Amino acid sequence: MCGIIGYIGNKNASEVIIKGLKRLEYRGYDSAGIALVDGSIYVNKKSGKISELTALLDFESLKNFHTGIGHTRWATHGAPSDINAHPHLDCKEEIAIVHNGIIENYSVIKKMLLTKGHKVISETDTEVIVHLIEYFYQTNPLLEAVMMAITKLEGTFGLLVISKKEPGKIIAARKGSPLIIGIGDGEMILASDASAIVEYTRKVVYVEDNEIFEISGDSFKTYTIDHEKIKKEISNIDWDISSIEKQGFSHFMLKEIFEQPETINNAFRGRMLYDKGNIRLDGLRLTDEELSGINRITFIACGTSWHAGLIGQYLIEEYARIPVKVEYASEFRYRKPILTKGDLVIVISQSGETADTLAALREAKSKGVKVLGITNIVGSTIARESDGGVYIHAGPEIGVASTKAFTSQITVLILLTIFLARRRDMNSEEGKVYLEHLNEIPGHVTEILKHSDSIREIAEIYKDKSNFLYLGRGIHFPVALEGALKLKEISYIHAEGYPAAEMKHGPIALLDENMPVVFIVPKDEIYSKVMSNMEEVRARKAKIIAIANEGDEEIKKYANHVIYIPGVRKMLAPLLTVIPLQLLSYHMAVLRGCDVDQPRNLAKSVTVE
Ligand code: G6P
Repeated sequence: MCGIIGYIGNKNASEVIIKGLKRLEYRGYDSAGIALVDGSIYVNKKSGKISELTALLDFESLKNFHTGIGHTRWATHGAPSDINAHPHLDCKEEIAIVHNGIIENYSVIKKMLLTKGHKVISETDTEVIVHLIEYFYQTNPLLEAVMMAITKLEGTFGLLVISKKEPGKIIAARKGSPLIIGIGDGEMILASDASAIVEYTRKVVYVEDNEIFEISGDSFKTYTIDHEKIKKEISNIDWDISSIEKQGFSHFMLKEIFEQPETINNAFRGRMLYDKGNIRLDGLRLTDEELSGINRITFIACGTSWHAGLIGQYLIEEYARIPVKVEYASEFRYRKPILTKGDLVIVISQSGETADTLAALREAKSKGVKVLGITNIVGSTIARESDGGVYIHAGPEIGVASTKAFTSQITVLILLTIFLARRRDMNSEEGKVYLEHLNEIPGHVTEILKHSDSIREIAEIYKDKSNFLYLGRGIHFPVALEGALKLKEISYIHAEGYPAAEMKHGPIALLDENMPVVFIVPKDEIYSKVMSNMEEVRARKAKIIAIANEGDEEIKKYANHVIYIPGVRKMLAPLLTVIPLQLLSYHMAVLRGCDVDQPRNLAKSVTVE
């Protein structure tokens, strides 16, 4: 969702802020803006991408501003226009704020402010915050005014505030939206995620909910909402700037697809106990008794992470024989879920900040059950609020459409499956076989990536189609869902994923020569059933693209195109079958001239409900 950044130090603040906004642009790209402060205040904002704002800025003339804030927006309240762009100013144009989150009671506050004579000019929920601060600022210093204002807010915020009357400082506050402070040498960089900070420093402080920071160039003070001073720990970020550069790839998404041999390896490295055929997952923090007492697992997630959860369901039910439910986070939290002793909740989130997933985690915790988190971002809110969990170690994922995080999530779910299965029916010999085969997966992925050019040729043929169907059965059904999601996210082609046999109960009506159908059909116990489904599709003249195992010659009789992948154990197959689907959607989007890394209307991290 929106990206926010603040800078205070000795550099030209406008340059640092624009550079940081470009790094945060994947969080939202409807409009962007900047506010700089010394004795005066300078504000510029523009609808559209950050490049539109940058074109308006004369950096040389702004070089004496050393403090400022910036914002890149994903619109919630109000269209993406210049006036709705952040920063927002108070009536006297003394205070500027940027905000990530949603203020739920903004209309009540707005009514109150209007009666006090404030002029609210945008349609945003954010603008009321700056007027509220202005109201309290008449009789209080900035820090206190912000404290008083935020006690009146309902909803979520990551907030940065500057004032021309107190130019050497930034006030930062958080409730529900991520905020990190980077501590540099005589400078501080604040941002909604570390990608905008890591260029300057790896020393960071994670802002927690209901904390307020008063920040100058070389120090910060932290308070609770009740003005109590608190001490904060300094943490270190364990990745560097090269992880967030394109490194010669034309898009982040392509770079991330090609990183998968390494990222899958990173997800299992150090966790496989080969001699015991077992797994170590130290971060779970569950006692033996708690592990033995698990009667049911509920995965909760959104988007691609939810698809990973579905794969987890197939894996854990089949191999560890524990019942599993998979829930959309946004549905789970509002339908009075029943959780009792013996339930284990596992939330899956790449960013660790998705608002619905976080709320579901809190809901589950309030019911007294253990909640684990499978996340990518170390120190993210979900990682910190879970009782335990597993990091996927995929490194920063910048492409809005998730790729490497998905395969890393699946890898961790495979590890978890083996870990749980070994406590039940799986013996050490079987465990060893799976570990050996998992170890070979990165090499197989490297082989599949070599097909990128031939997948591009298939994309050339179908790039102008309006609809696609993706079909798979069993564990390949969630992969079909993920393939369809990737295609619609970045190429804007309508696509649906379906269980292959269920296709007969509806989607079959759509089939004709204009409807390409992607089948995920590696050789396993339901291979022949899927072949029958393929026959049904072929009989309706739809074109078939099949993802099949090397050596499967039979399939050529049914499919118009076959993308071959190495044959592996079913448990591991999703790690391979999804790779051609990622490449297919990538090439399709590029050929259609779409903005692959920043697809319209989407955001990488959805930190609002
Ligand atoms: C957004 C992103 C998706 C992602 C989903 C869940 O919709 O565009 O790529 O799968 O959020 O995000 P999370 O960070 O919780 O995995």
